[in-house]
Amino acid sequence: MAEICIIKIGGRPLADPESLKVLCGELEKISRQTPVAVIHGGGSEVSRISRIFGLEPVFVDGLRSTSEEEMAVVEMVLAGRMNTLLVRSLAVRGMRAVGLSGCDAGMLIAEAAAPRSRTGRIVSTDGTLITDLIQGGYMPVCSSVAMDSSGEALNINADEAALEIAAGVSAARLVYLSDVPGILLDKQVVPVLGPEEAEKKITSGEIAGGMIPKVRSSFRGLSRGIGEIIIGGCDKEGDLQSLLQGSGTHLRLH
Ligand SMILES: Nc1ncnc2c1ncn2[C@@H]1O[C@H](COP(=O)(O)OP(=O)(O)OP(=O)(O)O)[C@@H](O)[C@H]1O
Ligand SMILES: [Mg+2]
Repeated sequence: MAEICIIKIGGRPLADPESLKVLCGELEKISRQTPVAVIHGGGSEVSRISRIFGLEPVFVDGLRSTSEEEMAVVEMVLAGRMNTLLVRSLAVRGMRAVGLSGCDAGMLIAEAAAPRSRTGRIVSTDGTLITDLIQGGYMPVCSSVAMDSSGEALNINADEAALEIAAGVSAARLVYLSDVPGILLDKQVVPVLGPEEAEKKITSGEIAGGMIPKVRSSFRGLSRGIGEIIIGGCDKEGDLQSLLQGSGTHLRLH
């Protein structure tokens, strides 16, 4: 099989109709060149809907602390609304998108990160469904909802889910598409970042919030054999191609 590219899409571009249109156009182009599987988050939308239900989101080191009540919102928003929205947007462009969550075919099995928390840590990954779908000519589109060994739902940070799935299918590339053009330091995109420098920037607070799990997942991914990891944005036509050719931030082990 040709080399698989895993593309992780963050919640904010998904929630904006114009960004979504651009993204789907870019995915259409890239998928003609290489097999693509999409993993998506939806953190901003989960927070928005949670607040409507009177649940105030809590984050620790950029990871959502998910209560039982909020888990229901996560499942509805990610595996429901956001996943279907993305599948529909790809399908109208002729792509054979298939909507999934980490619960399908044992793709992401996790355990609770703390007692009474529904934030999960992945304990096993099975990428077979992704590779089978790609071989059948489909584009898998997967949310980051997972389950534990007793069948209960867990919320996985979508960057970590993308990393595990990318490692599970031995992906050649993992691209994190967020609402920023790459990792910003002093308001400039850093073209290349290594693990030690990244940890220093996390300690100093220059890399913060949702960028922390993205960066930490990336270095774990590189040491687990994913060929290349890129962090960047996709606001206009040609952006995804540019990222694959060298813009954005490329993470390297050195
Ligand atoms: N040094 C940095 N460079 C760029 N972005 C940073 C940096 N430090 C913190 N951030 C924040 O990280 C955010 C991206 O992570 P965030 O978790 O919010 O989105 P996402 O992972 O793309 O989407 P989702 O969480 O829905 O999957 C940016 O919007 C920015 O505010
Ligand atoms: Mg995030």
